[in-house]
Amino acid sequence: MKKKLILLLMVLSVMGAMIACGKDNKSTSPTAAPEPTATETPAEPTATDTPTPIPTETPVPTLSPLPDPDGVSLKDIYAEHGVKAGTCLTTMMIGNADTAKLITEQFNSVTMENDMKPDYILSEAKSKEAGEIVVEFNSNMLSMLKWAKENNMAVRGHTLVWYSQTPNWIFHEDFDTNKPLVGREEMLKRMESMIKQVFEKLEEAGYIDLFYAYDVVNEAWMEDGTLRKSNWTATIGDDFIWHAFNFANKYAPESIDLYYNDYNEQFKTDTLEKFVKTLVDDKGNYLIDGIGFQAHLYTKDSLDAYFKTVDQLSALGLKIELTELDVCLGKYQYPSVGSPKTFANQGRFYYDLIKGLMDRVDAGTLKLDALTFWGFSDGMSWRKEYQPNLFNKNLKVKNAFYGAAMMKDKAGFDYPEQ
Ligand code: GLA
Repeated sequence: MKKKLILLLMVLSVMGAMIACGKDNKSTSPTAAPEPTATETPAEPTATDTPTPIPTETPVPTLSPLPDPDGVSLKDIYAEHGVKAGTCLTTMMIGNADTAKLITEQFNSVTMENDMKPDYILSEAKSKEAGEIVVEFNSNMLSMLKWAKENNMAVRGHTLVWYSQTPNWIFHEDFDTNKPLVGREEMLKRMESMIKQVFEKLEEAGYIDLFYAYDVVNEAWMEDGTLRKSNWTATIGDDFIWHAFNFANKYAPESIDLYYNDYNEQFKTDTLEKFVKTLVDDKGNYLIDGIGFQAHLYTKDSLDAYFKTVDQLSALGLKIELTELDVCLGKYQYPSVGSPKTFANQGRFYYDLIKGLMDRVDAGTLKLDALTFWGFSDGMSWRKEYQPNLFNKNLKVKNAFYGAAMMKDKAGFDYPEQ
């Protein structure tokens, strides 16, 4: 009986671990299938414009005493190389005095984690009423832009055209998901109007000057080199990315760099290289300024492979940004337990990655404008079970922070390598 009980508990705990890991859909292994697959049909339309639910955030602890990174500031260190230090941003982070202070001390660039995604900036009711797509900024987004302005933060726009976190009603006749998908010409009109309104409304609201980069298209390619099937391909066709960049070029101010952003970049390198070469106007000039590497990495990833990607794609002459950097303990679907050893590995990984990037910047072989971390605290991370960030859940500094600061003596190199 006791044996049976133990067996049952073991089975349950394995199942629990599998469910928890399944939340992380970004594979960095070419053999593990990220979702959705290229053959998957787009999600069934929903009838409301309620945004896709976002992972709940762990309330930010009040700190006493404040985290003490010994006066070390990432933004000052990166500024010596002409690179901005960024973090993703939520209203919860700026609503807490301690985290807000930490952000202003460490970073000079922000990307909204969710509030500028299509799900959050399009009004279904107003689009139906007007008979054309209507962009309406939400109060969270506006309050974060206000905060960014008051705190001298530069902003990365994220994102315009994406298969996910985008309402289905925008693809249907009369914005009604019970009706068929619209055709190519109508969807091109809607795409153009959406992009135009975003830049116009940022200007009207007085925030356009904060923006230095914008993710025009997010996650369009699969690891096998095929285009991801989505409502964008179903309505417009496979050239939807070219059109998105063409419209963004028409309406974005020159000062905003236009980016294609994707994950698993180290497994999509040849695909990305081939594809960005097609993003040119009729005179052969690039419609794109940079490639965003999401850099959702794992401590067991190969940095040699990663730098091959960096070198191959930066040779195209475009800018590169790390846009959502976090380094999970362990590997895809197999988080390592946090321990002095695994945290030291993580610190070394951050050090080797960032030092390698900055060396390339200094040598003039890499145009890296910004390095954005996908959050700073393990407690607020979308992959919290892997503890991927620079500070722990109580906002105490980790080896990872010193690795990111390129301070070799505190990054974990004194701990024997495993
Ligand atoms: C992708 C998106 C981000 C965010 C993360 C999860 O990388 O580009 O906006 O949704 O997934 O936080």
